[in-house]
Amino acid sequence: MSSALKAFIFDLDGVIVDSAEYHYQAWGQLARKLGIPFDRSYNERLKGVSRMQSLELILANSKDCRTFSAAEMLMLAEQKNEHYKRLIEQITPADLLPGIAGLLHDIMEADHRIGLASASHNAPVIVQRLQITDCFDVIVDPGTLKKGKPDPEIFLSAAAQLGVLPESCIGIEDAQAGIQAIQSAGMFAVGVGDPVSMQGADLVIQHGEAMKYANIVGFYHVMLNKTT
Ligand code: BG6
Ligand code: MG
Repeated sequence: MSSALKAFIFDLDGVIVDSAEYHYQAWGQLARKLGIPFDRSYNERLKGVSRMQSLELILANSKDCRTFSAAEMLMLAEQKNEHYKRLIEQITPADLLPGIAGLLHDIMEADHRIGLASASHNAPVIVQRLQITDCFDVIVDPGTLKKGKPDPEIFLSAAAQLGVLPESCIGIEDAQAGIQAIQSAGMFAVGVGDPVSMQGADLVIQHGEAMKYANIVGFYHVMLNKTT
């Protein structure tokens, strides 16, 4: 790592807003309907991965050997997404997770750029409901990508669209697949949440006080000095 800090690239679900909980509830309802075991621990594997991959992971946990056609899979994913869309209708600006509003404000004050690297096709709607669309210079469209997290493509695409080098970016994630993606992209990886799910992160913090610009950038500079 050798560049001066230029940009922050955020994951959305579980980092900016607790929509990860709504994904959990919507998948939980589908799994119950199908009689497939599903709990919070299994749900950790779904974080950061695409809708269809998440469905495949859920079906893989089925106790019988039932198979589903591509059309049935699409229908199940659609059912989950319709439920999820109803759940996210309740999101308001008050749902920004603790520390996020201040962090976004301070990043803009410092004149750094901000990107959103979410695997969710619902991200633009959520960001709009939170009234933070204007904070983002770039929102990566996951429909344009070939590979999902843990592949670095989404973070590299965000950096390229922002016109900055990966090593001058800080990526923030709440999922193991996301941390791997940030690391593989050659960015400074900040994990938010349970350290057990943040293997390989350069810094692990919680929402609230630690989510401050000065705190995160302080650690980034420590890392920069170590590697130059
Ligand atoms: C990620 C979530 O942000 O988006 C995953 O962590 C989710 O849980 C993925 O499956 C895709 O989201 P969506 O809204 O397009 O189904
Ligand atoms: Mg997430």
